[in-house]
Amino acid sequence: MRGKGPEVEIVRLLKSGGEFVSGQRLSATLGVSRTAVWKQIEALRKMGYRVEASPSKGYRLAGQRPFNGVEVSSLLETEIIGKRIHFYDEIGSTNVKAFELARGGEGEGAVVLADSQTGGKGRIGRRWESPPGLNLYASIILRPPVAPQEAHALTFLAAVATAEAVAKVCPVRPVVKWPNDILLDGGKAAGILLEMDSEPDRVHFVVIGIGVNINETQSMFPEYIRNTATSLREKAGDAIDRAEFARHLLSGVEVWYKIYLSQGFTPVLAEWKRYFGFEGKPVRVTSFESVKEGTCLGVDASGALLLKMASGDVVRVVSGDVEAAG
Ligand code: BTN
Repeated sequence: MRGKGPEVEIVRLLKSGGEFVSGQRLSATLGVSRTAVWKQIEALRKMGYRVEASPSKGYRLAGQRPFNGVEVSSLLETEIIGKRIHFYDEIGSTNVKAFELARGGEGEGAVVLADSQTGGKGRIGRRWESPPGLNLYASIILRPPVAPQEAHALTFLAAVATAEAVAKVCPVRPVVKWPNDILLDGGKAAGILLEMDSEPDRVHFVVIGIGVNINETQSMFPEYIRNTATSLREKAGDAIDRAEFARHLLSGVEVWYKIYLSQGFTPVLAEWKRYFGFEGKPVRVTSFESVKEGTCLGVDASGALLLKMASGDVVRVVSGDVEAAG
């Protein structure tokens, strides 16, 4: 577990300008002894930071920074989202962990991050490929004061925040596939899995799981998704800093969550529509009970997909998988 402990403060202080910072200044700023500073520096080294030490000048960071909770925390300036970050090098599923933590009372805004998942969960019981060292696997705990039937708004909210974060680092404009896949040139770059704990008229908590293919290249994808998956790196041409990306994403979730709490679903949905790429197009929607084909008319005020069938009837779809048809 990593909260905003002294190691986060040290990384922040050492970061500014890349200059040496004296041990004395670190201990005075943090209000701890020089020995405590030294212990924190050792801990940072164990986490993969390269900390140069000079007896006369102090400490400075060198080389590539690792991806971990301390690094993400040191970049974040949010009030709620990511105030506490639980980071794991390897975990079954960040969603499962976040669910457990939330059941145990973990507060709103806590985030579970992992470098890899051995049992990453996708929608509809699918698997989410989660190799180490490449991508982002994040689960955010929220406790919105809403009824369970309203909670799907958070899926749209997460899709908007993810699309915006992708747009910040990638030259290809992201397209949202209803309700919450993020596509780049038609390939899937990110997926969102919302899980919730509730009673009939009240949500206890929601876990928003977001998986983003960041630095995985086409040849690294397992064969069964090689033709349908893509990554930010594939489109940007260069490696992308995962901690920076996490900062964009978590900051965006906070911005949109505040908007949602103060103004409701309407502004979230309006923004989501700006990224929606299927309006006016022929689509096929596969759900548990049926497969429907028609022209996508967009979404209604609740976020349900509107499908115009060959008969002329307009059907409202609340769940399923959409793909281009025809
Ligand atoms: C989808 O099928 O499109 C949703 C994929 C969601 C994957 C993310 S990765 C982080 C979080 N932990 C999980 O086990 N799943 C979600």
